[in-house]
Amino acid sequence: MLYIGVDLGTSACKFLLVDETGAVLNTVTREYPLSFPRPGWSEQDPASWWNACLSGIPALLQGFDPAQVAGIGAGGQMHGLVALDENDEVLRPAILWNDGRTAAEVEYLNGTVGKEVLSARTANIAFAGFTAPKLLWMRKHEPELFGRIAKIMLPKDYLVYKLTGVHATDCSDASGMLLLDVKHRCWSAEMLEECGLSQRQLPRLFESWQPVGTLLPPVAARLGLPEGVVVCAGAGDNAAAAVGTGTVGDGHCNISLGTSGTIFISSSKFGVDPNNALHAFAHADGGWHLMGCMLSAASCNSWWQNSIIGTGDYKGEEDKIIPDRLGHNHVYFLPYLMGERSPINDTNARGMFIGMTMDTNRADMTQAMLEGVAFAIRDSFEVAKSLGISIPRSNICGGGSRSALWKTILANVLGIPLDTVATEQGPGYGAAMLAMVACGRFASVGEAAEALVRVRATVEPDAQLTALYNERYAQFRKIYPACRELFPQLL
Ligand code: XUL
Repeated sequence: MLYIGVDLGTSACKFLLVDETGAVLNTVTREYPLSFPRPGWSEQDPASWWNACLSGIPALLQGFDPAQVAGIGAGGQMHGLVALDENDEVLRPAILWNDGRTAAEVEYLNGTVGKEVLSARTANIAFAGFTAPKLLWMRKHEPELFGRIAKIMLPKDYLVYKLTGVHATDCSDASGMLLLDVKHRCWSAEMLEECGLSQRQLPRLFESWQPVGTLLPPVAARLGLPEGVVVCAGAGDNAAAAVGTGTVGDGHCNISLGTSGTIFISSSKFGVDPNNALHAFAHADGGWHLMGCMLSAASCNSWWQNSIIGTGDYKGEEDKIIPDRLGHNHVYFLPYLMGERSPINDTNARGMFIGMTMDTNRADMTQAMLEGVAFAIRDSFEVAKSLGISIPRSNICGGGSRSALWKTILANVLGIPLDTVATEQGPGYGAAMLAMVACGRFASVGEAAEALVRVRATVEPDAQLTALYNERYAQFRKIYPACRELFPQLL
């Protein structure tokens, strides 16, 4: 049998065709635009995700027997608010995970409702990208549209709805709405009331590997698939990527260097960061995880390479960095191009280069940008360590992990080995694994990971370079606090 894994990303949707041994037989990518209607805002049209499916899935199946497809699973960008009216029509463009418009609502939730209350209800506090503050924003700024909401859901849930006609979500993705009681894996009645919603306006909750339904007959015909294809609930992209890299069960770590940068620590037990700097979310394997999320990771690289220096030649620019310069750069970069989530939770934070001198060259700045992202990942890594969590090594995935140099920098900034798995497909592969469990190919997500995921390569840290990076990180840590008060004045 065959399985389709979907990775609904921020800049593109990627489709994977996987056989029952876990081999990836084909991949297809469909890109779509992202709009920034105002500084700090970030929106996307859900129709573009569906169009990507309508063209991507038939292309994926070319040369294969569609009758062999048993299941589809999707992992998707988290937190985005998709609002549907009573006819299931999209009410407005989705407000995405990296949108920073809700500073006032976050202030209200964390300040007036209170962090302790939010944490007791949901295991988390409010961050600008989360869904609940967006609902409060919509209620205030678009009351007419808000009044017409019949259903809300997350980006990948919209695809599942279009495929099956079922309004569903899964616990891992729902955790990022600030509407879920994460410990008990059910909606929080208090949070729904806080946001002026009733339970009827929410999708039905599933575990990630549970079947939600089968394809609607007209959709099956349009995609060229059998009607009996099972669609599972899927997962938030970080949980799906964790599944795809075998980061399941207790105490494993995955770092994703995608548009966002995340550090994800799996656990079979529920636990909360007492300071709520890390998110405490449900995992797609039935357990939980702690996660730190920086808003601009590989996107700093594409911004620098494409928009600023304008070459787009990532490898060529990295090759200009002399290996001896690692650990010696006196230029620093703050990667807060979209504000920042973990751990500083500051929508006003901005990107900056600092420390240039007349001898600074372009390679130093490219290096500073790569190092700045690594240092910001270390900020969340340090929070996890301060909670007594031991992270002796980590998996790494996402577009940025294709750069050998960036992996070397990160392994030495964190001082741990970084493993890359054989199927480097991250969320899409994890989503296909969830579909396999939904179809009975494996009894559990853990079993699927055990059978399918293998480490292909490891980058080891070097003790001397790690020591140099410890010194550099100590300097990096001083920059944001010194500029924090300035950033809001720059708006
Ligand atoms: C996680 C988060 C991002 C998006 C990226 O909390 O906001 O990693 O899921 O797609």
